[in-house]
Formats: sequence, C-alpha cells, structure tokens
Amino acid sequence: MSILVTGGAGFIGSNFIHFSFKKSEETIINFDSLTYAGNLANLELFEGNDNYSFIRGTILDRALVETTLRNFQPRAIIHFAAESHVDRSIHAPSDFIETNILGSFNLIDSTYKYWQNLNEDARETFRFIHVSTDEVYGTLNPGEPSFTEDHKYAPNSPYSASKASSDHIARAYFHTYQFPSIITNCSNNYGPYQFPEKLIPLIIHNALSEKLLPIYGDGQQVRDWLFVEDHCAAISAVLKKGIPGQTYNIGGQNEYTNLAIAQMICSNLDKIKPRKNHKSYQDLITFVDDRPGHDRRYAIDNSKIEREIGWAPKENFESGLQQTIEWYLNHKNWVESVTSGAYQNWIENQYK
Ligand code: NAD
Ligand code: TYD
Repeated sequence: MSILVTGGAGFIGSNFIHFSFKKSEETIINFDSLTYAGNLANLELFEGNDNYSFIRGTILDRALVETTLRNFQPRAIIHFAAESHVDRSIHAPSDFIETNILGSFNLIDSTYKYWQNLNEDARETFRFIHVSTDEVYGTLNPGEPSFTEDHKYAPNSPYSASKASSDHIARAYFHTYQFPSIITNCSNNYGPYQFPEKLIPLIIHNALSEKLLPIYGDGQQVRDWLFVEDHCAAISAVLKKGIPGQTYNIGGQNEYTNLAIAQMICSNLDKIKPRKNHKSYQDLITFVDDRPGHDRRYAIDNSKIEREIGWAPKENFESGLQQTIEWYLNHKNWVESVTSGAYQNWIENQYK
C-alpha cells in the first residue's frame, strides 16, 4: 500500500509527510517539481527510508504522472502541489493557471484512468483528496456568518480563481464519472517549514533581521489561522472517513487581524529574543500599500467536519504561535537556505 503526495516538499505537504510517518509506516511517494517553494531539506529525516520515495517532476508532465501511478500503484493521492502565494499570483498569474488548473486537470484525468483499471476492491477504497483553500469563497464582512460548504464560490485573486477552477474539475469528475475525489477547503495555515513570503514567517524573519514589518493597507483584514499539524490531522481523517464527492471545510476558529498577528509576534519576541537596542519589535511595524483586490475577512464554519468526521483543531493559537516562533529561532540554517537567490529578488520587487 502507498500514498502519492503531490507538492510534498512544500510547507503543508512536508508537514503532512512528517505527520504520516509519526502515525504509520505506509509508503509515501512525494511527487514535486521543486519550485522556489519546494525544499528537500524539509524531508532530510526520511532520506534513505525504504518507505519514502521522491520523484522530481511537474504535474503538467502527463507521461511522468502516468508512469508514477503505474509503478507505485497508490491507494490514494493527496494533491497539495500548487502555486500558493496570492501576491505572486497578482504579479505573474500564468504559472498559477498552468499548475493549479492545467496541472490539476492532468493529474485528475490521469488518476481517473488509472483508477478505472484497478480491481473492484481497490476502486472502491481509492481516494483522491484535493487540497484547497477557503479563498475560493471570496471575502466576508465583519459579523457575517463563516463559510459553510454551501457558500457561493466567488474567488477574487488569480490564485483563488485558479484553485476554484481545480475544485470544479475535481467535483465534476465525481459527478460525471463517480471518480472518488474529495475536496477540502482550509483556512490560513501557520507552523514550521512555511516559506517566509507568507505573513507569519515573514514577520518573524524580518523582525529577527531588524527589517521593517510590512502591513498591507490598514492591517484590519482578518484571517482564520490553523496550526499546520491540525490541518494534516484533518486531511488524514478525511482520507479515512470522508465520503467521495463531498467537500469539507477546515478552519482554526482563530480569527485575528493582520496587525494583531504582527503585534503578537513582536511581544513574543520581545520576551524570548529582546532586541539589542532594548526597543520593542513593534517599532518595526510599517503600513505599506494595500494588496490589490485584498479580501477583507475569511472565516470557516467547521461544523460539518466535526460532526461527520470527528475532527476538531487541537492547538490553541497562543501556544501554536509560540512553537512556530521557537521553530524559526532554532532553524536559522533552514531559513538561510531558503532565503537566498530567488527569494531576495522577490522581496526587493514586492516591497520596493
Ligand atoms: P507551498 O507553496 O509551500 O508548496 C507547494 C509545493 O508544490 C512546493 O513544494 C512546490 O515545489 C510544489 N509544486 C508547485 N508547482 C508544482 C508542479 N507543477 N508540479 C509538482 N509540484 C509542484 O504551498 P503550501 O502552503 O504547502 O500549500 C499546499 C496546498 O494547500 C496548496 O494546494 C494550497 O493551495 C493549499 N492551501 C494552503 C494554505 C496555506 O495557508 N498555506 C491554506 C489552504 C490551502
Ligand atoms: P498571506 O500569508 O499571503 O496569506 P493569504 O493572502 O493567502 O491570506 O497573507 C495573510 C494576510 O496578511 C493577508 O491579509 C495579507 C497580509 N500580509 C501583509 O499585511 N503583509 C505582508 O507582507 C504579507 C505577506 C501579507
């Protein structure tokens, strides 16, 4: 038995591989093209492990996807591979259209053909978990009810539009061909191994480097934060108990404004890693131009996954954030290795 994970060298994918090996020895095949966001250092622990294989390849390469399915005969696919950063999708949408839409189509269609040729028992238990985002639902005003699975799709960025499109493909393959796809729509994750282009690791990294902490617009946009290990547990539970053709929303029940997040990180660092000049890190917070089309608020209603699958988030935000900050303090080499070259160019362009 084996599970094929796409995008396993990225933030959530690599956390999922760590999580899975803590729970079982089932073989994992990690299929990843290693973009700027993919990093094999996240998975050093499993090098040489007989139950782990890495295939470098893009989901756009149909022949390689088909060979991988034929050779490894997975019983499930967890599809994480994507271009995932909203700001990059605003600067250069085409990679998002290619990977997230065409790549996902290619993967789903190849897997559908592979699934059709399985024996009856294997076909019955096979699952394709399509990992998606709450951003497909668009934006909420303060006080509006959280996103349920029935919320209208209204994506506002090239990133969320490309994810919405791939959700529709996964959904259509169930309805048309009974292909056993399940969609998960999750809120903002945080935790170890997150590339420091996203809010939380960027603020930690900039603060520790004595750089300005950029907050877009008025900083009052709200995100619902989920510790990445809780997301991995949710995906694992959906793999076991989820019903094909269904969608499950996954959220942290932790709504905070971006400004509050930056302030929490600063006061945490003030205690555990005070600045040499004895000032607070909060002095580094700087309001910058807003993101075009910036969604005001995301919030997830978890009641379906709690009721039907029995999953709920375990980590509370204060301790999850504390662990995350400590992880970045203790993994300076990892941060250095991912923030050279292409990263510098991105930061210079985005924050000039
Ligand atoms: P990430 O950007 O950290 O990692 C993406 C991984 O996919 C990288 O390893 C990259 O090399 C790989 N990849 C990119 N293009 C590929 C291609 N064409 N073929 C094969 N591999 C490719 O992303 P993440 O934050 O780990 O997100 C994983 C998934 O979860 C994405 O689908 C994302 O939309 C979804 N998601 C993320 C969040 C979040 O807060 N990070 C929240 C909800 C959903
Ligand atoms: P991000 O981590 O990019 O996730 P997403 O856009 O998928 O929600 O951003 C989280 C929030 O933080 C979002 O409202 C944009 C904001 N933000 C900043 O204010 N400054 C920054 O430098 C970044 C990267 C994000």
